[in-house]
Amino acid sequence: MLPRTGLILSIVLLACASSAHAQKRADIVFEDFEGKDYGRWTATGTAFGRGPAQGPLPGQMAVSGFHGHGLVNSFTGGDTATGTLTSPEFKIERRFVAFLIGGGMHAGSTCINLLIDGKVVRTATGPNDRAGGTERLDWKAWDVRELEGQTARIEIVDRETGGWGHINVDDITQTDESPVEEIKTSPLYGETYRPQFHFTSNKNWLNDPNGLVFFKGEYHLFFQHNPMGIEWGNMTWGHAVSTDLMHWKQLPNALTPDALGTMFSGSAVVDWHNTSGFQAAGSKTPPLVAIYTAAGGTSPESKGQPFTQCIAYSNDEGRTWTKYSGNPVVKHVAGENRDPKVVWFAPTRSWIMALYLDGSQFAFFSSPNLKEWTLLQKLDVPGTSECPDFFPLAVTGKPGVEKWVWTAANGHYLVGTFDGHKFTPETDLRQVDFGGNYYAVQSYSDIPEKDGRRIQIAWMTGGSYPQMPFNQQMSFPCTLTLHETSDGLRLFREPVAEISRLHEASHTWRSLTVSPEDNPLHGLKSELWDIQAEFEPGTATEIGLTVRGEAIVYDVQKKTLTCLGHTAPLDLEGGKLKLRILADRTTLEVYGNSGRVSLTSCFLPRPKEQELGLHIVGGKAKLLHLVVAPLRSAWITAGSETK
Ligand code: FRU
Repeated sequence: MLPRTGLILSIVLLACASSAHAQKRADIVFEDFEGKDYGRWTATGTAFGRGPAQGPLPGQMAVSGFHGHGLVNSFTGGDTATGTLTSPEFKIERRFVAFLIGGGMHAGSTCINLLIDGKVVRTATGPNDRAGGTERLDWKAWDVRELEGQTARIEIVDRETGGWGHINVDDITQTDESPVEEIKTSPLYGETYRPQFHFTSNKNWLNDPNGLVFFKGEYHLFFQHNPMGIEWGNMTWGHAVSTDLMHWKQLPNALTPDALGTMFSGSAVVDWHNTSGFQAAGSKTPPLVAIYTAAGGTSPESKGQPFTQCIAYSNDEGRTWTKYSGNPVVKHVAGENRDPKVVWFAPTRSWIMALYLDGSQFAFFSSPNLKEWTLLQKLDVPGTSECPDFFPLAVTGKPGVEKWVWTAANGHYLVGTFDGHKFTPETDLRQVDFGGNYYAVQSYSDIPEKDGRRIQIAWMTGGSYPQMPFNQQMSFPCTLTLHETSDGLRLFREPVAEISRLHEASHTWRSLTVSPEDNPLHGLKSELWDIQAEFEPGTATEIGLTVRGEAIVYDVQKKTLTCLGHTAPLDLEGGKLKLRILADRTTLEVYGNSGRVSLTSCFLPRPKEQELGLHIVGGKAKLLHLVVAPLRSAWITAGSETK
């Protein structure tokens, strides 16, 4: 498909008439709905309003995927309103009639029809037939080869008054090349919506990262997994290893459901001093110990059992696991208590467990040997629940100053002190990530001291992976650092430096004054990007980048950074704005001012939408520095362990 000119029945010339396109006739844009009204179209009823909508209408979710500013949106007056919108006559002159469509999936009552002699000869609906869903428009095309030369009309219909009782349409075009992209469901790791440098399970469902531990050169990533299905269930610990946090090799499942329950979230540690006694006789290699929740009552086999905390160990670098015969090690305390995260506290030579109890209640326990646990403290943190993490972190730029950070599943955190018995928060509850898909965060245990990083992975809860053999993905691993800022101690998160190993030849700009009409990025194309930019806003009121069709926008006056409908507060720093953006096939991860805030979000761009744009509004900005690197896929890099 080619860009539109905005004129009804205008003919768009091929932008690049390569020999491959030689026989393809120019597209005919029949209607782009960029006008103030419907022009020669006839509307009946009230649902279509007086003219094209400019995006979502009152009470509607964010509408995306349409082109330009206008679209047909029959949500005027909500789902209950009805009506029709009928085009003037036109001649069918190309092989396909293509259009962007969204809204309800009610055959005959939220639809677009092709009429010949008043009869419906082709019809299509939006994609939604149940609560939730998406207001995104996508391409559909009718093959009309056999109808070429005939006179037709298009009719857009909204006769539905219940849920998803509306239809959205844009860009009706006659074309010889269908814009509908084929979705590849194979080969493994090469599927259309398979993230290329984020972890996904080879197949089926995944949620929380579990048991993040580094041992003998390998990062272990266990994960909540349903080995039997594409949706949540049968909780099992899946397992993958990597030497660089990007190339993952999936191993056999580590922990499978038993009579105490299915395997819910937890953590893993290296028991360097063999406090547990699990080390194999005669071996010098310390055991790995996993601390997990047995979710009693979530399977027929565990009927009547409560949720308890259990342990398992491995003496072969995590390849096989033995559950402790004395399980559970922490009996039921409250509700569906779960998600133990364990850390070694050297001064008292004890293990400390952060545990989720119920509601917004958490607890800390301590143990000399991972087997016997004593309750230390309960902690109520309104606004949080599930998956606590607890770790020490040095304050950047203050040698010798270390604090303890407590995080909950949503990544909200407290910073304070810990003396082996009591955690004393010194801040209010804080937030570093503002994206739509950041949950069940966990950080790595046992990163060697000479590396010293605190590396966190989140489950990118809620993305959509149509027709894929897998469901859900992990975030890109981030390094957490602690900074003294004007409003106290704050966590920053930035992608791990290893990402640069996936860079293809990068493009760099320095000291460039940019105006609204400039796009120095024009012509660059890739599905996968690592972009780093630094701006001085100057007289611009808005600065941003468009990546895979989505705008990442900094509003200079409001001091906000927005991506995919989510907004983070962000002040300029020394008058400057720093942006870092990672784009994968189904994700955008945006970091503002060196990770002071981040926006971790899933999306579903059109596979062919790969261009980049610069977005300057209201004046001139100075681009101090811009590095744009297309990325290689981690699944196909030479020497990758992945497959
Ligand atoms: C968080 C969570 C955990 C639980 C696990 C079950 O996403 O609900 O609290 O252990 O998922 O899969």
